[in-house]
Amino acid sequence: MCGIVAYLGDKEAYPILVNGLKRLEYRGYDSAGVALLHEDKLTIYKCQGKVSDLEAHVGDGPTTGTVGIGHTRWATHGPPNDVNAHPHQSTSGDLALIHNGIIENYASLKEELVHRGHTFLSDTDTEVLVHLIDDIQRSEKVDLAEAVRLALNSVVGAYAIVVLDRKDPDVMVAARKSSPLVIGIGDGEHFAASDATPIVEHTKNVVYLEDGEIAVIDRKKGLKIRNTKNQDKTPFIQELEMHLETLEKGGYDHFMLKEIHEQPRSIRDSMRGRLNLAKGEVVLGGIKDYEQRFVNAKRILIVGCGTSWHAGMVGEYLFEEFARIPVEVEYASEFRYRNPVVGEDDLVIAISQSGETADTMAAMELAKNKGATIIGICNVVGSSIARITHAGSYTHAGPEIGVASTKAFTAQVTLLTLMALMVGQKKGVLSGSSFYRLLNELDAIPDKVQRVLKTEDQIKYIADIYKDASNALYLGRGYSFPVALEGALKLKEISYIHAEGYPAAEMKHGPIALIDEAMPVFVIATKGASYEKVVSNIQEVKARKGKIIAIVTEGDTVVKGIADHVIEIPETPDALVPLLSVVPLQLISYHIAVMRGCNVDQPRNLAKSVTVE
Ligand code: AGP
Ligand code: GLU
Repeated sequence: MCGIVAYLGDKEAYPILVNGLKRLEYRGYDSAGVALLHEDKLTIYKCQGKVSDLEAHVGDGPTTGTVGIGHTRWATHGPPNDVNAHPHQSTSGDLALIHNGIIENYASLKEELVHRGHTFLSDTDTEVLVHLIDDIQRSEKVDLAEAVRLALNSVVGAYAIVVLDRKDPDVMVAARKSSPLVIGIGDGEHFAASDATPIVEHTKNVVYLEDGEIAVIDRKKGLKIRNTKNQDKTPFIQELEMHLETLEKGGYDHFMLKEIHEQPRSIRDSMRGRLNLAKGEVVLGGIKDYEQRFVNAKRILIVGCGTSWHAGMVGEYLFEEFARIPVEVEYASEFRYRNPVVGEDDLVIAISQSGETADTMAAMELAKNKGATIIGICNVVGSSIARITHAGSYTHAGPEIGVASTKAFTAQVTLLTLMALMVGQKKGVLSGSSFYRLLNELDAIPDKVQRVLKTEDQIKYIADIYKDASNALYLGRGYSFPVALEGALKLKEISYIHAEGYPAAEMKHGPIALIDEAMPVFVIATKGASYEKVVSNIQEVKARKGKIIAIVTEGDTVVKGIADHVIEIPETPDALVPLLSVVPLQLISYHIAVMRGCNVDQPRNLAKSVTVE
């Protein structure tokens, strides 16, 4: 998610925190805050906006203190505002805490803590952590480190946290699970940060915390690491790579590549707290009040642009198959100008990564004014589009920096899948066994994406063969047709090669005239309902000397005997294939664009968010 910086040493912490947060600005965020500890006084400054807004907010306020924590927020629970900004403080005022990640069981923890007399000020999931640690510290009469350890044993979710206790100003406690945290070891000083960029100018010696590890930093005793099972761990100190630019991208050459590789985590985060295998249920708190509207919907309209429109196209197949509700997917820019027939019986799903796309916003306003119910799927909490909706679910993909959308697409499709399964089950048109089987298959997707990412070297080899193509065709049937569209968009927007996506069967109605030995044809040919038909389409292309790059199910030998190249992806039901098959297409576009010397993260003529018409 977003950014953490912490310092304990002999220098003034405030400037180190502010400069460190500025190093993390590339990650995108909506609020910022710091807590400074001087003797037994804890001073907290926090506000919505940028780090510069925080500096203005601090003004000439006191910033003394050699211990401090700083945070930039990418909201997941609770809109961006001053109260929801981090750090969060315990009711006693003793503790201050910052957090990156998502606490899945925050609602039940909050209920218990309120019952035990804790006063909550914010709408965030994070705030439960500081009250829980405070509660345990008091009831168990333990120090901060032990209170943190005990608390984390009852927390479900992802976290990178740093906690201060004004009763013990010489100690800082950090911990991580599924959200990165780096400890910097300087000369008589220690740092903690979400990545190494705020640390590298102070020290090259770092420890990358592992999941379940707790770092206890003591002014006198230095760094100790233990895990949540109370086992001591020997810190593995590494020497930092010094190039800031490389560090910002997590060691990847471009944000786009980093975000492609983040997809196992971003898909997992988008399911976090929503897919409950133990109870066999999908819980989408953001649309809870509108579940009946979904169940009774006569029609679902999906509006979006670009990649979000492609995700909507996958949504059409999902809702029609699992919820048996007719769906129409509309380019927002077309919908808003054609005086569409829309009214109170319609449920509109608006999909947007940025939450600021002008055409999508206009389409939503039009439908809302005609009485339709507007549900959002957005990646930016509190964005304009999120605020127009009646309800919605946020993708928890984290900031997407690369202009070409990748992890946002798979997060959007994940949310659409959860929605369609939930509505189908509540309508009683999706059997319990199918529902539960699909939940298990969806839960396995992040690990399968990780396996697909391991084909990258083979994909680079293929990219090198086709990097000089002038045109390309992408074919798919059923759920794979929108993925063909998405693959074509990825290639054209970052490598500037003209590419078109088509339903595979449609080829014989025109595009087949384009086929020759210079035409790479990417085909999604996974085992499923239309497999045999797609194999025939591949034969048609080969008969005209076209070059076939096929995405196939692991172990496929039939297509392997026909195609020029095959990229294998793990077996998964048709409905979940888009979450896997899009990854090789993202990677092939990326590597072709790099080989062509294109500006992958900021392609020519494009903006990350099209806020104009
Ligand atoms: C996709 O790679 C492009 N960046 C673009 O098509 C994008 O999907 C479109 O502009 C919609 O943006 P949104 O999801 O932020 O609304
Ligand atoms: N889930 C927390 C919140 O919404 C932390 C978000 C983040 O990682 O910045 O405040």
